[in-house]
Amino acid sequence: MNPAPRMWPDISGIAYGGDYTPEQWPREVWDEDVRLMQEAGVDLVTVGIFSWALLETSEGVFDFGWLDDLLDLLHANGIRVDLGTPTASPPAWFFARHPDARVIDRDGTVMGFGARGMASHSSPAYRAAIVRIATELARRYGDHPAVVLWHVHNEYGVPVGEDYSEQSVQAWRGWLRERYGTLDALNAAWGTAFWGQHYGEWDHVGAPAAAPSVVNPAQRLDFHRFTDHQLLQCFIAERDAIRAHAGQPITTNFMANQSWTTDMWAWAREVDVVADDHYLWAADPEGEIGLAIAADLTRSVGGGAPWILMEHSTSAVNWQPRNVAKRPGEMARNSLTHVARGADAVLFFQWRASRSGAEKFHSAMLPHAGTSSRVWREVVDLGGKLDRLDEITGSRVVADVAILWDFESFWAQDLEWRPSVDVTHAAQIRCFYEQLWRDNVTVDFALPGHDLSGYRLVIAPAQYLLSTADADNLNRYVESGGTLVVSFFSAIVDENDAVHEGGFAAPLEPALGVRVEEFLPLREGDSARLTWGGSEVSSRAWQEDVVVTTAEVIARYADGPGEGGAAITRNRHGAGTGWYVSTRLEADGVRALLAEAYRDAGVEAPDHPAGLEVVRRRGADADYLIAINHRDTSARLAADGVELLSGATVDGEHDVEAGGIAVLRTATPSVQGGDRPADVNP
Ligand code: GAL
Repeated sequence: MNPAPRMWPDISGIAYGGDYTPEQWPREVWDEDVRLMQEAGVDLVTVGIFSWALLETSEGVFDFGWLDDLLDLLHANGIRVDLGTPTASPPAWFFARHPDARVIDRDGTVMGFGARGMASHSSPAYRAAIVRIATELARRYGDHPAVVLWHVHNEYGVPVGEDYSEQSVQAWRGWLRERYGTLDALNAAWGTAFWGQHYGEWDHVGAPAAAPSVVNPAQRLDFHRFTDHQLLQCFIAERDAIRAHAGQPITTNFMANQSWTTDMWAWAREVDVVADDHYLWAADPEGEIGLAIAADLTRSVGGGAPWILMEHSTSAVNWQPRNVAKRPGEMARNSLTHVARGADAVLFFQWRASRSGAEKFHSAMLPHAGTSSRVWREVVDLGGKLDRLDEITGSRVVADVAILWDFESFWAQDLEWRPSVDVTHAAQIRCFYEQLWRDNVTVDFALPGHDLSGYRLVIAPAQYLLSTADADNLNRYVESGGTLVVSFFSAIVDENDAVHEGGFAAPLEPALGVRVEEFLPLREGDSARLTWGGSEVSSRAWQEDVVVTTAEVIARYADGPGEGGAAITRNRHGAGTGWYVSTRLEADGVRALLAEAYRDAGVEAPDHPAGLEVVRRRGADADYLIAINHRDTSARLAADGVELLSGATVDGEHDVEAGGIAVLRTATPSVQGGDRPADVNP
């Protein structure tokens, strides 16, 4: 299946701006806002996201006067609008009228009013209300010349994802009937013979609410799928209501870095253009790597098409334990990294800092300190930089390595009672990604069932849930010449969270030439050593008892419970190679492992200085090298072309200043990496 055709809002160049909440300010401030937006080069603002109470003052009573004025003002000043539907925050009157639409959490707490967060995704009253407000907005503004994009809701899945209300439980039973047809099929899929959970009537099947012990993991995995489905149905209902009256592209903002409540692959097929919100985790000393992961994932779910960075922050956020401010230059580096990895729009939360409310300590483009501030000066400077990069819009990132990222595997793997709390899907992805990042090898993400034939190298980090069909796809990928690296705790369960027959990792035995007999997790803080050729490398958290069938043993455990056993193996299968690593390697081990895998796969790691992040976007007539210097000294980039930010001609080498950025237009190499089908998202 091909991805939906992508549409881009009617703006030339890289869009620049942010969330705009003028309803929090007196009318005269709006005039100052548009003047300053022009000064900063802002050309796209998102409005209306939390304005339901002001737009529909009581059920069916609308007041669009202020929004009419606002859109006209923005249009008159050349600023385009991404018009939000306000359904992430229903008004007080809605909950007063429909108390049963309130969300109930897993512990049975009924969610109150006074914050934000949608009503129950399964409430018929909520569904009717969101369609009503979306329809009214689309009718009124579908032809407004300022509106170039529709922004449905806000960040589905947070702060409200799972709902245990009666309406949700009713819908859940309907969803299960649809999925399984019969109770026999449900009982089999959930393995309800265990702990005597057999169901004899549909009405006895409940949501997996808090219970005396661990709730059936297959039931919890299904409830996750159901939640995602219900949220997506809410999006589709609004999207279709808008489409009936408006022709602009429609999107919603994903959270590739924060919440994996929704299956971005499935959602990306339903939006016209993919959009993402990204906030650095202050506790992560290398937040730029997390940022790169999120950006690559966002691009990948959209099949490689340009995407919108819908929100990020100019400096600190307000909701982490310690909200670390960005240092000079960091905002621009963050922004240009998103651009390097495929974004054609750079937007922030938010335009002007709020004086009141829960987010008053969140940074903004226009901070409380006003225009005589560092942040404002950097905002204006960034607007200028983006203006000089118009020609790179529409170009595409080149990658010939893929990492598997499957949301269902996340949902299943991170439930309770797993062999070790030290093994999470996200940490394993990060572990491999980090080394690829340091090697400046650009990565796409992919699902295990995708057509992977365009990638030279595919990495499967702790791909715990893997259906037999997807495992067959990976086996075929290797057989026909691909290089596959699989880490421990992969191919353990099927789509029902049931252990594969034949044992752990058995479905991948053709590609890997191994099976796993037993997990050997280490105690907290313990590490172990591997003998690899003449040297030793360290690992932690995990070992396995690996049964080698056709593979060659590359490294063995020098100590730990698996002492003497196979730690790393390499298997020839058909025309390709399957690597298996049964432990959590430290960085030096990952580096060595990937160096071998690059060799097998014919992947070339470019030779850039450490700390200089370089990504290539390929346009119709040229390539663009975007270089971000994370060091506090300058770094030399070997290239020929024109540096677009300065206009300088580059002949052989270019010094990227400490903490600086360079964007080079350069010739497309005659031997091209990334020669692969344009869209890999089926
Ligand atoms: C986002 C949200 C915004 C704002 C922002 C603060 O998750 O969409 O409305 O709350 O966080 O960082």
